[in-house]
Amino acid sequence: MWKLAPSILSADFANLERDIAKIRDAGADYVHVDVMDGHFVPNLTIGAPVVKALRRATDMTLDVHLMIERPDRYLDDFLKAGSDIITMHIEAPGFSEELIDRIHAAGKRAGVSVKPGTPVEALYPLLDKLDLALVMSVEPGFGGQSYMPVADDKMRALRRVIDEQGLSCEVEVDGGVGQANIAYVRSCGADVIVAGSAVYGKGDVAAAVAGLRAAAPV
Ligand code: DX5
Ligand code: ZN
Repeated sequence: MWKLAPSILSADFANLERDIAKIRDAGADYVHVDVMDGHFVPNLTIGAPVVKALRRATDMTLDVHLMIERPDRYLDDFLKAGSDIITMHIEAPGFSEELIDRIHAAGKRAGVSVKPGTPVEALYPLLDKLDLALVMSVEPGFGGQSYMPVADDKMRALRRVIDEQGLSCEVEVDGGVGQANIAYVRSCGADVIVAGSAVYGKGDVAAAVAGLRAAAPV
């Protein structure tokens, strides 16, 4: 069964505990936490103190997506805050393979992401040590954008290489996924599907999650 990772970027930031309880009750798998620094992407969201507060509020898997420059400077803060999965961008100044080892040394799962303009092959040398490979299907920075088909072949290629090599790395897709295209991205090979506006933008979170599950039953 594929995993659903609702992005709290589209939740009510004044009621995060309530909104996370809603996705837990609806059977979601990960809480996707979008961290933006106003430099790597043209938007600012939240930092490690909020992740720490979320850690106290839930035992769900915290899937932290760092859209920041210099992840080397901030990694320890996000590890200490209680992240379960930390995904960094391969394009980010300060990213290096050594950071993956630091995440593993802390007993956590490591991911690396590619933006729409970055060839997926950039991830290949890292796959055997990654827990998660994240394909961005929008330009990172904002929720509610339209899915970019450039992600299709990247997911297919990752799926093929991971399966051929017998690796355990999950393929995650992030951006513009909803009821209309969730079955398609699943068929491209995504194991973990991020959905922000499709979960939190519809009013009824439980119905939205059920609708996504029904649209992609396998
Ligand atoms: C975009 C973020 C996404 C975003 C997804 O930079 O990384 O996680 O919140 O939102 P939707 O599902 O609305 O495209
Ligand atoms: Zn994200």
